[in-house]
Amino acid sequence: MSFTDTPLDFRTPELDALASVVIPERHFELSAEDARDRYFTDTSKLDAKQLVHDRFRTNPLALHDHLIAALDLRGTEELLDLGCGNGEMLARIRPYLAAGHLTAFDIAPAALDAARQRLDGVATPCDFVEGSADDLRAFADDSFDRVMAVYMAHYVTDLDACFAEVRRVLRPEGRFVLATDRTDSMVEMWDVHFAALRDMNAPEALFRATPKGRISLSNGTDQLAPFFASIERVDWQDQLQFGKAEHFMAFYRSCDHCCASSKPGADLPPAFFAELEERVHARVQASIARTGYFALTKYTGHLICS
Ligand SMILES: C[S@@+](CC[C@H](N)C(=O)[O-])C[C@H]1O[C@@H](n2cnc3c(N)ncnc32)[C@H](O)[C@@H]1O
Repeated sequence: MSFTDTPLDFRTPELDALASVVIPERHFELSAEDARDRYFTDTSKLDAKQLVHDRFRTNPLALHDHLIAALDLRGTEELLDLGCGNGEMLARIRPYLAAGHLTAFDIAPAALDAARQRLDGVATPCDFVEGSADDLRAFADDSFDRVMAVYMAHYVTDLDACFAEVRRVLRPEGRFVLATDRTDSMVEMWDVHFAALRDMNAPEALFRATPKGRISLSNGTDQLAPFFASIERVDWQDQLQFGKAEHFMAFYRSCDHCCASSKPGADLPPAFFAELEERVHARVQASIARTGYFALTKYTGHLICS
């Protein structure tokens, strides 16, 4: 038996107890336009985030391995990637679609440019289309065998319109894979983040958790049910382990200080975020001194819709 046969389980009663006190019911609203104009004017934050997820993971299977399994490809499919970002996932999936066709779709021109560069010269034909995932009029009915939306649906303004559009452009026997997190994913980061904010008497509006609360693994099935006959939820976990506080801080910054600097705290001065970083760093450093590393436990997965 290989050690990848048994799904990894990092959950402990202590983590569950922490999540029950740390993760707020409310979440940030971060619209697609805000995301594009404040977060995705270039892909440096996304690049950094992907690097950290890969470098510090302890699950031998990476995100793209899980996606490739969920997409169940034969190699000839037409695939649409909604919110393709820098094209990292498409580049990983492409060898499984040698005789297929890729469509990279994103609201942010900078993301499409990065995806175009990443896929430059590959033999699998690839189109790059700018637009918002709740309006897929650029595509005819029944155009795709696979549609995927990876960590992007929480930005989409009109999710009902998006899912109706996905159903329309997806062939009857096709599948839609939506990847997202549980809201208590990476609770350790929210814990140090909120503790530092509390120490600073930060504005109430900053005490909200991830925008993925809009559509998460927990509430996603109900939102997709009107549009798809079958929805299978697949959960998997990972744990990022940081032996140096600075590596975690790079990740924390790339997450826009848990979204605090991307929208709700946009009016706060740079000094606010400098102090926040200092306080978060001190807490992470203390945790590393105690246990040897700082852990971020990821509860993630996808919904396979057909
Ligand atoms: C967190 S990134 C994920 C990128 C990629 N799917 C991945 O997993 O590496 C989210 C991407 O979704 C895009 N996006 C956000 N809202 C969108 C929308 N309404 N329509 C299309 N793309 C959108 C952003 O521009 C960004 O490139």
